[in-house]
Amino acid sequence: MTAEGQIDPEAPPLSDHLLQWKNLSFRPPKSDKVILYSQSGSVRSGELLAVMGPSGAGKTSFLDLVSQRVSSSDPTASITFDGQNFSMRELGSYVAQDDALHGFLTVKDNIRYSALLSLPHDTPTNVIDGVVKKTLRSLGLTDVRKNLIGTHFQRGISGGQKRRVTIASSVVTQPQILLCDEPTSGLDSTTSYQVASAIKRLAQETNTAVLASIHQPNFETFSLFDNVLFLAGGHCVYQGPTDGVVSYFTKIGYPCPPHVNPADHVINILNTDFDVAEETGVPDHERVQQLAAAWVSHTSSLASAGSESHVHNSGATTSTRIGAAVGAWMTISERTLLRSEKSKSWSYRAIGELNKTWILTKRTALIIRRNVVLVSVRIWIYGMMSVMLSTVWLHLARTDARVNDRLSIHFFSVALFSTMSVAAVPIYLEERPVHNNGLYGAGAYTIANTAVFVPYLFVCSVIYSSISYWTVGLKSNGWAFCRFIFYLFLSIYAAEAQALAVAVVIPNFVGALAGVGFLTGFWMCVQGFLVRTPNLPRFWYYWAHWIDYQTFAFSLLVQNDLEGETFTCATLPDGTCQCSVPSSLIPKGHCAVSGGDVLKSLDIPHFSPAFYVVVLVVICIIYRLVFYVVLGFRKRS
Ligand SMILES: Nc1ncnc2c1ncn2[C@@H]1O[C@H](COP(=O)(O)OP(=O)(O)OP(=O)(O)O)[C@@H](O)[C@H]1O
Ligand SMILES: [Mg+2]
Repeated sequence: MTAEGQIDPEAPPLSDHLLQWKNLSFRPPKSDKVILYSQSGSVRSGELLAVMGPSGAGKTSFLDLVSQRVSSSDPTASITFDGQNFSMRELGSYVAQDDALHGFLTVKDNIRYSALLSLPHDTPTNVIDGVVKKTLRSLGLTDVRKNLIGTHFQRGISGGQKRRVTIASSVVTQPQILLCDEPTSGLDSTTSYQVASAIKRLAQETNTAVLASIHQPNFETFSLFDNVLFLAGGHCVYQGPTDGVVSYFTKIGYPCPPHVNPADHVINILNTDFDVAEETGVPDHERVQQLAAAWVSHTSSLASAGSESHVHNSGATTSTRIGAAVGAWMTISERTLLRSEKSKSWSYRAIGELNKTWILTKRTALIIRRNVVLVSVRIWIYGMMSVMLSTVWLHLARTDARVNDRLSIHFFSVALFSTMSVAAVPIYLEERPVHNNGLYGAGAYTIANTAVFVPYLFVCSVIYSSISYWTVGLKSNGWAFCRFIFYLFLSIYAAEAQALAVAVVIPNFVGALAGVGFLTGFWMCVQGFLVRTPNLPRFWYYWAHWIDYQTFAFSLLVQNDLEGETFTCATLPDGTCQCSVPSSLIPKGHCAVSGGDVLKSLDIPHFSPAFYVVVLVVICIIYRLVFYVVLGFRKRS
C-alpha cells in the first residue's frame, strides 16, 4: 500500500463485481397490502443507483430488502454478489436516514472508531490513519475534523456535515456495497450536490456499489447517478440510465417540458398523494398502474429483442472508473483476503473480539470524559449531597435516641445513589443508534461499559464517603470506613446496572426513566427501613425483599456501622433505664443498647458480610446479563 492519497500506477485494476437482486417483494406480516411488487435489477461495483419516488413509494422498503434487513415475501427472491449468496453484514454497510453519531466525539474520532471497530484487528495503524484521512478529505470534512458532533446541550457541526460524517463512518468500514437511505435529506441543494459527488467519488475510488434513495435532487445531483430506479406505489416504473429517463418518458407519452429537471418531472407524474389528475387527464392511481404496465411491456420488448436490461449494461462509469487502487484504501483483494482466510480461524476471531472490547473501552472512557453533564454534574451532586448530609446529621451522639438518625444515613446513602442511577439511561440511549450499525457485538459493549463505569462509580462513592463519613460520626475505624466505601460502591453499581437493563428493555427515554423511577421507589419501600422488616406484608417480604439489592446494601452498611458499638439509653427521673429497643446490656448493668440489639430489632439477622457481598455481585451480574441478552436480541432482530 502506498502513501495515502496517491494513486498507485502499479496497483492492479479494480475488478468488476455485480450485485443482483431478483423478485424482491414485500408484504408486511399479517397485512394484505403489498408494499413492494417484484423488483429485479443490479448494480455494478463503482456505480451509483438512485432510488426515487414519491413519499410512500417503497424506497426505504426496497433498501431494507436489498440490505437483507427484512426478508422478501416472495420465496423465489434472491440477492447475489457475483452470482453467489452472501451476507450483507460482511460486505455491505447501511446508512440509515437518521444520523448515528456520538455527539461527544469529534468528527475524526467518530470516523476513526468506525474504522478501528470494523477493519481486521491487525490492520496497521498507518493504513487506518490513511483511510481516515482520505475519507475526511473525500467528504470535505478535513477542516472540521477536530470539531465535536454536538448534542442537545452543546452545539456542534451543521446538519449537512453530520450527514457526511454518518456516510464517512460507513464508508470507512470499506464496504463493497453501500446503501444510503436519503443521504441528502434536509440539506440545501449545494450541500446535497457535494454529498452526492463525495459518494460518487468514493464509489469510484473504492469500487463500491452504491444504492441511495434520494428526494428532490437538482439536475446536477441527479446527473451524478449512473442509474435510477423510479418507484410508485411499490411498482417499478423505470429502471435504467439517468440520461435515458427523458427519452423513455417521452416515448410513453410524458415528455419533459423544456427547462424542467427530469427528476422533478417524473416525481410529479408519479405523485398520487395530491390531485394532479386534471393536468394529465388520467386518475392518479390508474396512471401509476399504466406506467408500471408500460415499464413491464418495455422490458419484455427489450428482452425479446435480445438486449439486456438498461441497468445491467449501463456501463456508464466502468470506463471512467479509476483503474488503479488508491493508495490509502484497501484493495478489494486485500479486504477479501483479510476477511476470508484469517477470519475463519477461531483464535484470530477471538483476538479480534478482545481488540474490539479494548477499543470500545477507550471510546466509552473518552465519551465519559467529554460528557461534562454526565460526569461533572453527577460528581458535583454527590459532593453537594454529602456536604448536606454532613451538616444535617453533624456529629451524631452515640445515644439510643440518635440510632434512628444513624440508620437513616445508611438508608439515604443507598436511596440517593439508586435515584441518581437514572443518569445511566441516556448513556445507553445515545449509544443505541451507533450500536445498530453492527460494528460490534453486545458482549464487547457490555464489557467495555462495565470496565469504564466500575472505576467511575468507585470514585463517586469515595468522594461521597470521604466528605460525609467522618463528619457525621459513623464508626470511628479505618477499616469500617473502607468497607463503607466498598458496600456503597456495590449498591451504586447494582443501581446503575439495573438502570441500563431497564433502558435496553424499554428503549424509550420517558418509558425508561419511568421504569427506573418505579423500580427504585419499589425497592426502597420493601427493603425494610421505611416499613421495618417484621412489619412488611409477607407477600412482599418473601420475594421482593430478598431480591432487592437495597436490602443487602443497607444491611451491610448498618451491620458495618453498628456491630460492636453501644448506645447510651435515657435514664428517667425515677432512675429507670429507657431504651427504644429491647436491650441485652441492661441485665448486665449498663443503661445502653448494643449494635446487635438494634440489628435484631430491625430483623437483620447476623450474617456473613462476605455472603451478602457475593449476593450483591450476583445481582449486578444478573442485571448485566439481562442487558447483554436483550441487547444481543435487539441487534439480531
Ligand atoms: N412494516 C410495515 N408495515 C406496514 N406498512 C408498512 C411497513 N413498512 C412500510 N409500510 C408502508 O409502506 C409504504 C412504503 O413505505 P416506505 O418507507 O418504503 O416508503 P418511502 O418511499 O421510503 O417513503 P418516504 O419517502 O416518505 O421515506 C408506506 O405507505 C408505509 O406506510
Ligand atoms: Mg423512506
